[in-house]
Amino acid sequence: MSKNPIGIFDSGIGGTSILKEIHTLLPKENIIYLADSKNAPYGNKSESEILQLSIKNTEYLLKQNCKLIVVACNTATTNSISYLRKSYSVPFIGIEPAIKPAALNTATKTVGILATKGTLSSQLFHQTSNLHAHGIKVIEQVGEGIVPLIETGNLESEEMKALLQTYLEPMIAQNIDYLVLGCTHYPYLIPMLTEMLPKDVKIIDSGLAVAKQTKSILASNGILNTSTNKTSVKLYTNGNIEVLNSILNHQFDTSYFDF
Ligand code: DGL
Repeated sequence: MSKNPIGIFDSGIGGTSILKEIHTLLPKENIIYLADSKNAPYGNKSESEILQLSIKNTEYLLKQNCKLIVVACNTATTNSISYLRKSYSVPFIGIEPAIKPAALNTATKTVGILATKGTLSSQLFHQTSNLHAHGIKVIEQVGEGIVPLIETGNLESEEMKALLQTYLEPMIAQNIDYLVLGCTHYPYLIPMLTEMLPKDVKIIDSGLAVAKQTKSILASNGILNTSTNKTSVKLYTNGNIEVLNSILNHQFDTSYFDF
């Protein structure tokens, strides 16, 4: 069982930001990653559509004997993780916008969250926000249009810059000192965001926290891979393989597969 792969899925290539953190922290783990780019973006879909896609991805990964599944997508986590946990016996790790550290550390008592419509409108997001951001002004911004641009490889385009400008301006005007990235595609924008934000605004991305949580759950279940065999990290996309390879700097083994 411990040699079985970790399964990871996202609506597309964004979750590779999590895959990289997991692979760095857990280099002995075999990994299968699904980029469901054909169905991206999930962020504008209904809760039941997101749930159906999450079930499809989970069942594919379980057929590959995955021992644990990382839902490397805030939209899929906030709309489906409780169902997945109830329905399948493997452990699930999810990702949600990291409001807690931002709310705990903000000096201006104002934080910004950039995430998809599906995440910001979910019940789970509201519960977390109400729990941790009491007395803090949380500026929620839907990152409409960002995921499709990343999925088509237009990461550093003028169009992206213009979109980000529109989303950041009101937050900057209201004096945020933390920007929470609530979508796993967004860490790829950190260089651009850093240039555009005032120097004292800190960016929070939860990739490393997810990797640490994955390690801790594998350890507590006694399924960390201790084998010294060569590790296999395999990525499947049902979308554009060129864009996937280019975002990964051709570092991993990728294939096109219509799952
Ligand atoms: N990476 C997904 C997330 O974390 C993107 C969602 C989408 O496809 O809209 O929310």
